Amino acid sequence: METITIETTSSPSRILIAERLENLKHYIPVAKPIIITDVNVGKMYPLDAFASDVITIGTGEAIKTLDTVAEIYAQLLSFQADRCAFIVGVGGGIVCDITGFAASTFMRGVRFGFVATTLLAQVDASVGGKNGVNFQGYKNMVGLFHQPEFVICDLELLKTLPPREVSCGLAEIVKHAAIADADLFAFLEKHAERILALDPAAIEKLVLRSVEIKSAIVSRDETEKGQRRLLNFGHTFGHAIEKVSGLSHGEAVSIGMVMASALAVKRGLLAAQENRRLRDLLAKLQLPNNFASDPQKILDAITKDKKRAGDRIHFVLLAGIGNAVVEPIAIEDLTEALYA
Ligand SMILES: NC(=O)c1ccc[n+]([C@@H]2O[C@H](COP(=O)([O-])OP(=O)(O)OC[C@H]3O[C@@H](n4cnc5c(N)ncnc54)[C@H](O)[C@@H]3O)[C@@H](O)[C@H]2O)c1
Ligand SMILES: [Zn+2]
Repeated sequence: METITIETTSSPSRILIAERLENLKHYIPVAKPIIITDVNVGKMYPLDAFASDVITIGTGEAIKTLDTVAEIYAQLLSFQADRCAFIVGVGGGIVCDITGFAASTFMRGVRFGFVATTLLAQVDASVGGKNGVNFQGYKNMVGLFHQPEFVICDLELLKTLPPREVSCGLAEIVKHAAIADADLFAFLEKHAERILALDPAAIEKLVLRSVEIKSAIVSRDETEKGQRRLLNFGHTFGHAIEKVSGLSHGEAVSIGMVMASALAVKRGLLAAQENRRLRDLLAKLQLPNNFASDPQKILDAITKDKKRAGDRIHFVLLAGIGNAVVEPIAIEDLTEALYA
């Protein structure tokens, strides 16, 4: 097991890689925590033995709302939870984001931790202290920055994950490699088959390195003013594609990364061959790397998404594999990447 500690302005957050759900009790200051999980995870992994009470929520982005948070508050009250309660979210990114928000606001904040059960939650959603819910169709519109005390990344739990969910996590791992670690990128290229077969040693290396990269960036910029923007690589196009296509987040980000690198090639920042490496790697990992759609639709979705940020956006461009820069770009200039 490896532990990575994120130093924050509040208390430190520990990420425990290859720790087991069974050891949860070692990390909580009360006899038994209150667990929040979703209906799928709760069915696959009975959690009663670890908890004083279990709150089960539904699945999908549509339930990531203030209504669900209100239901959680009501259940916490019915369990007579007080300021000494400890809450553990056991699930994917949705459970972690909602748990972090509910715990940070219930009675002005109670202590909490996560057991991340999807690859995406282990390498991305549970790291960095962002939590919250969607509001009026806008993703993650309401929330706050507050770190969990610990995150258990139990790699055994990934064995039950549907392959499409595995790929979603892999897209964010490729993102981390592309922006910050050429060696990790080469490892992904070399071991794609082992990785898709969830080879334990390969997955442990990916989760560990990914968490190291994200937590280092987050430690330097906890509230997303500078460096942290690098983590948005592929996400400007990605979010727009997600909206217009119905593809999953990871699939949309995969295409978004290819589009963003095409733009970097056009601007003379990235060698065409490096863009090809990115496309090939994503294909090897069974992620999509192109998208046939009306470019205007994507541009409209970006404009709508970014309307609060003015007409220039902080756009992440690759200057090489493992090296990213943030540049202000006018939304119209993104068109170059769409009309290849
Ligand atoms: N806070 C952040 O910094 C951050 C970063 C990235 C993403 N996110 C958020 O994360 C969410 C997506 O997270 P996700 O991809 O984990 O999705 P998810 O939480 O919806 O989980 C995906 C599916 O897998 C199921 N599942 C979970 N664990 C399983 C397991 N071990 N075996 C079998 N099935 C399992 C879930 O029930 C669900 O149906 C989004 O809402 C996104 O906004 C947050
Ligand atoms: Zn993402």
